Amino acid sequence: MTNTEWQLSGNMAERYEEYLVPVIFAPWANDVIVRADLASGDSLLDLACGTGIVARLAAQSGVTATGGDINLGMLAVAKERSAGLDATFHSADAQRLPFDDESFDVVICQQGLQFFPDKLGALSECLRVIKPGGQAVFCTARGLEENPLMQAQVTAFGRHFGEETTGAIRAVCGFPDPDEMRSVFEGAGFGQVAVEKVVLDLEAEDGSAFVNGLMMATPVADRIAAMTPADRATLHDDILKGFGTWYDGSALRFPHSANVVLASRSA
Ligand SMILES: C[S@@+](CC[C@H](N)C(=O)[O-])C[C@H]1O[C@@H](n2cnc3c(N)ncnc32)[C@H](O)[C@@H]1O
Repeated sequence: MTNTEWQLSGNMAERYEEYLVPVIFAPWANDVIVRADLASGDSLLDLACGTGIVARLAAQSGVTATGGDINLGMLAVAKERSAGLDATFHSADAQRLPFDDESFDVVICQQGLQFFPDKLGALSECLRVIKPGGQAVFCTARGLEENPLMQAQVTAFGRHFGEETTGAIRAVCGFPDPDEMRSVFEGAGFGQVAVEKVVLDLEAEDGSAFVNGLMMATPVADRIAAMTPADRATLHDDILKGFGTWYDGSALRFPHSANVVLASRSA
């Protein structure tokens, strides 16, 4: 066991950025940015930007990036990490975007749509702020059964804290159906809607350290902090075991499965 020194440091957004972004969200950001086919000088909205990994990476290649999110803690980290880049970050609810009509060439939303209560309303807003001829690229996790990262947490947290504590992790995989995804984009008025299942092979060289970080960045982090070191060690090992053969005793290499949508606003 390596987690006897485990303690919470920083706030949730800082832990998200430190432990989850490098292994999970940065690889996905690179993938969706390539799919969006951004050109230098394009204007991008990173919707539900979190700590802004999509906006920051895009801005590094000459894109003018704007991030929007409802979580002020996430936005604070995004701003702090984007010094010197052409990237700005704003408090923005996806269902009522504080941006003018036809402001952006591209909107990317990475792992955000599943959390919007009014998906059709949010996508209508998204269409409104895209320029004619522009496009949207959305990426949303598929089901738990295809995502060992979330399944391992749901199983372990359910066992240790009760099934009712697993809702936030389940919600990550809460909008898994590609047909529903297509129909909500079409219903909002997007054209040329293409939905593709994409599986990235994610990797944490030190699987045990990654799970320690993951435990700090989950919604039950405070409950984990209150555990005895022995109970915490058992939880840590349960999460690792939950990855099954994706953990080789040292590294974690696991598939992460999502639906990726490319959709356009007609010219
Ligand atoms: C899993 S994080 C993804 C963040 C970021 N896109 C990334 O790839 O790291 C989900 C984000 O969705 C944001 N979010 C949830 N509901 C939202 C809403 N109605 N409007 C804007 N952002 C929202 C959360 O605050 C959170 O930052």
